[in-house]
Amino acid sequence: MRLKVWLSFPFVFTGVAASELCLDRYDYIVVGGGPGGLTVANRLSEVSGISVAVIEAGREVFNNPNVTSVDGFTTALNTAIDWQYISTNQSYASGQTLAYHAGKALGGTSTINGMTYVRAEKSQIDSWGAIGNAGWSWDDLFSYYKKSESLTLPTAAQLSSGVTFVPNDHGESGPLKVGYPYGLLNGSFHTVVENTWQALDLPHNPDVNGGSVRGYTIWQSTLDMVANVREDAARAYYYPVELRPNLHVFLNTTVNRIVWGNSDGAAVASGVEITFSNGSISILKSRREVILSAGSLRSPAILELSGIGNPSILDKYGIGVKVDLPGVGENLQDQPNNNFISSTNSTFNGSIVYVAYGSMPDFFDDWDANINISSYAESVSAAINNTIAAASLEYLFGIQYKLLQNGIPNAETIMETTLNLGLGPNGLLVSPFWLLMPFSRGNVHISSRDPKVYPTINPNFFLVDFDLKVQMALAKWTRKFLATEPMKSLITAEVSPGFTALPENATDAEWESWVKTAFSSNSHPLGTAAMMPRKLGGVVDGKLKVYGTENVRVVDASVMPFQVSGHLTSTIYAIAEKASDMIKEAM
Ligand SMILES: Cc1cc2nc3c(=O)[nH]c(=O)nc-3n(C[C@H](O)[C@H](O)[C@H](O)COP(=O)(O)OP(=O)(O)OC[C@H]3O[C@@H](n4cnc5c(N)ncnc54)[C@H](O)[C@@H]3O)c2cc1C
Ligand SMILES: *[C@@H]1O[C@H](CO)[C@@H](O)[C@H](O)[C@H]1NC(C)=O
Ligand SMILES: *[C@@H]1O[C@H](CO)[C@@H](O)[C@H](O)[C@H]1NC(C)=O
Ligand SMILES: *[C@@H]1O[C@H](CO)[C@@H](O)[C@H](O)[C@H]1NC(C)=O
Ligand SMILES: *[C@@H]1O[C@H](CO)[C@@H](O)[C@H](O)[C@H]1NC(C)=O
Ligand SMILES: *[C@@H]1O[C@H](CO)[C@@H](O)[C@H](O)[C@H]1NC(C)=O
Ligand SMILES: *[C@@H]1O[C@H](CO)[C@@H](O)[C@H](O)[C@H]1NC(C)=O
Ligand SMILES: *[C@@H]1O[C@H](CO)[C@@H](O)[C@H](O)[C@H]1NC(C)=O
Ligand SMILES: *[C@@H]1O[C@H](CO)[C@@H](O)[C@H](O)[C@H]1NC(C)=O
Ligand SMILES: *[C@@H]1O[C@H](CO)[C@@H](O)[C@H](O)[C@H]1NC(C)=O
Ligand SMILES: *[C@@H]1O[C@H](CO)[C@@H](O)[C@H](O)[C@H]1NC(C)=O
Repeated sequence: MRLKVWLSFPFVFTGVAASELCLDRYDYIVVGGGPGGLTVANRLSEVSGISVAVIEAGREVFNNPNVTSVDGFTTALNTAIDWQYISTNQSYASGQTLAYHAGKALGGTSTINGMTYVRAEKSQIDSWGAIGNAGWSWDDLFSYYKKSESLTLPTAAQLSSGVTFVPNDHGESGPLKVGYPYGLLNGSFHTVVENTWQALDLPHNPDVNGGSVRGYTIWQSTLDMVANVREDAARAYYYPVELRPNLHVFLNTTVNRIVWGNSDGAAVASGVEITFSNGSISILKSRREVILSAGSLRSPAILELSGIGNPSILDKYGIGVKVDLPGVGENLQDQPNNNFISSTNSTFNGSIVYVAYGSMPDFFDDWDANINISSYAESVSAAINNTIAAASLEYLFGIQYKLLQNGIPNAETIMETTLNLGLGPNGLLVSPFWLLMPFSRGNVHISSRDPKVYPTINPNFFLVDFDLKVQMALAKWTRKFLATEPMKSLITAEVSPGFTALPENATDAEWESWVKTAFSSNSHPLGTAAMMPRKLGGVVDGKLKVYGTENVRVVDASVMPFQVSGHLTSTIYAIAEKASDMIKEAM
C-alpha cells in the first residue's frame, strides 16, 4: 500500500473578507493535473525555492481498479471520473451529437484512455516550426520524447508474440513507464495479420516511435510492467515526487478564471479564482505565471472566462475584453472513428495491440485529383463565422496537403479483441479505423459566464467533403484487409455492420451514409489554443505564451496546431517537457 502523507494546510491566510479567502502565493499555478499539467508541475518543482500549485477539478484515482487495470479501459468511461461532455449536433454528419469523454481526476484523461503510446511523424513536427514557431522540430522534440520515457524491455513471451522495437528510439530513465501487456495474445495470429498487410503492400514497421509511422506493428503502451498497472500522468509525474514541500495539489477544486493584476501593456495574471468542492470561492495568487493545462476542451473556456478571446463571444456573456484574440477555441481538430466487428474461428484469449498506418496511396488511388484546398479554406472559414480568415486556413491547409503528398500516414486501422475492451475472451475481432489529418475545423466556446456550465463543443465532422472521402476509402481498405488471405480464412462473419446493412457491393452513397451515422469521436481533440502566429489565428507563441499576456501559458493538447499520425499523450508529455525547460530558462 502506498504511504500517503497529507501535508498540513500550507497557506498563510491574509486578512480579506471571509467570503473570499486570499491564500498565500505560489510562484507557478498549474490549472489541471493531466499529462501536460503534471509534467510541468514535476519539472518546475525540481527547482528548490520555487513553489508550484496544481489545481485539479477531479479526485485521486490511485486505487481505482477501473483506472489501474491494464485491460478493458472502457470501464471507466461514463463514471464519475469522466466529464462526459457532449458535442453539438453535427450538421455535416447526420445531425447527431457525439459523446466526448475526458478524464476528471489527478492524471487527467490518461486515467481513462486506451494507453496507446505512439508519437508522430517527423515531418509533422517539423511543420510546427515551418509555420513560424521558432525552436520546434522533430529533432528537438525527439530528445524530449525520450526524456519523458522509460521503456521496459519486452519479455521473451512478448517477443515471441510479435513485439519488435528499436532501442535507440526510446528513453530508458524518464518518469513515464512504457511497455507491453502481459496479456498480449500468444501464438501465430500476429503473423497472420502481418502477412495480410504485406499482401496489401504495407510493410512491417519495427517501431513506429522513431518518426516514421507507416506500416504494421505492435504498439507500446503506457503501463508499468513491474506493478502491472496503467501508467497515468499521476503515477508517472506526481506520486514519485508528491512529498516535495514546494509542490501542492488541490483536488476537487475548479479554476473559474484568471485574476489579473494592474498593467498598462500586456495583461499580467496575478492568480486564479477557484471553487472548492464545498462551493466556497477563493483567490489563489501567483508570483510568476499561470499555466493552463485543463485540456483542449477546457483551457480555451478558461481563457474566455478570463476575458481572452473573440470579443463578439465575450460580449454575449458580459465578459470584459482583456485581450482580443479570436483564435481562442477555434482550430478544433478531431478524427472520426468507425469500426468493423468480425467473428472468427478463434477465442482470442489475450489482448492484441496491433496497428497499421497507411499513407494516401496505400488506400486511396488518385486522391490528389480530388482535393481543392482553397475551396476547403473558404467553406471552413464560412462555417466558423470567418473567425479565422480563409487565406490563413488556405496557407495552413497547403502545409497539411504537402505533408500528405510527401507520404505521411493519413490512415490508422487498429485491431483489438473484446478482451482489450473488458468484454472477456471470445472470437470477436474489433477493427476501429480513422483518418488522421482532417481538414475540417470546429471550435469550443463557453456557453455561459458560469464556469460550471460546460462549453459548447463543435468539431464540425465532415464539414470538408475530402475528410468523408478519406474515411470512406479507409473503410473500404479495412474491409479489404479482413477479406484478404491469410486473414480471410479466419473470419467467419462480419458481425457489425454486416453485409446486410452495408453490402459488399455498396454504392458510395451507402458507404457515406454508414460512415456518417456509425462514427464516433476518436477522442483526440486538439488545436483550440493553437501554437501559430497571431495573424494566422494562433493563440500561443513558440514559447507557449498566450498572445497579449505577460505570464500566461498553455501546456496541453490545445497548443498542437495540426493533428498527428499517432496518439496524443506521448506528444503532450514531450511538449510539456520542452515547455518546462523554456519556463526554467525564463526564471
Ligand atoms: C476514451 C479516450 C481514449 C484515448 N486513448 C488514447 C490513447 O490510447 N493514447 C493516447 O496517447 N491518447 C489517448 N487519448 C487522448 C489523451 O488521453 C488526451 O489527449 C490527453 O490525456 C490530453 O492531455 P491534456 O494534458 O491535454 O489534458 P487532460 O488529460 O484532459 O487533463 C486536463 C485536466 O484538467 C482538469 N481540469 C479541466 N478543467 C479544469 C478546471 N477548470 N479546473 C481545474 N482542473 C480542470 C481535468 O479534470 C483534467 O484532469 C484518449 C482519450 C480518450 C477520451
Ligand atoms: C474528492 O472528492 C471525492 C469524491 O467525492 C472524495 O472521495 C475525496 O475524498 C475528495 N478528496 C479530497 C482531497 O477532498
Ligand atoms: C468502475 O466502473 C464501474 C462501471 O463501469 C462503476 O460501476 C464503478 O463504480 C467504478 N468504480 C469506481 C471505483 O469508480
Ligand atoms: C439535435 O439532434 C437531436 C437528435 O439527435 C434532436 O432531438 C435535436 O432536436 C437536435 N437539435 C438541434 C438544435 O437540431
Ligand atoms: C503467453 O505465454 C507466456 C509464456 O508461456 C505466458 O506467461 C503468458 O501468460 C501467455 N499469455 C497469454 C495471454 O496467454
Ligand atoms: C470549504 O473548503 C475550503 C477548503 O477545504 C475551506 O477552506 C473552507 O473553510 C470551506 N468552506 C466552508 C463554508 O465549509
Ligand atoms: C486463457 O489463458 C489463461 C492463462 O493465460 C488460462 O488460464 C485460460 O484457461 C485460458 N482460457 C481459454 C478459454 O483458453
Ligand atoms: C477550387 O476552389 C476554388 C474556390 O472555391 C475555385 O475558385 C476553383 O475553381 C476550384 N478549383 C478547381 C480546380 O476546382
Ligand atoms: C459573427 O461575427 C460577427 C462579426 O464579428 C459578429 O457580430 C456576430 O455576432 C458573429 N456571429 C456569431 C453567430 O457568432
Ligand atoms: C481457423 O481457420 C484457419 C484457416 O482456415 C485454420 O488454419 C485454423 O486452424 C482455424 N482455427 C481453429 C481454432 O479452428
Ligand atoms: C449488389 O448485389 C446484390 C446481390 O447480388 C444486388 O441485388 C444489388 O442490386 C447489387 N447492388 C448494386 C448497387 O450493384
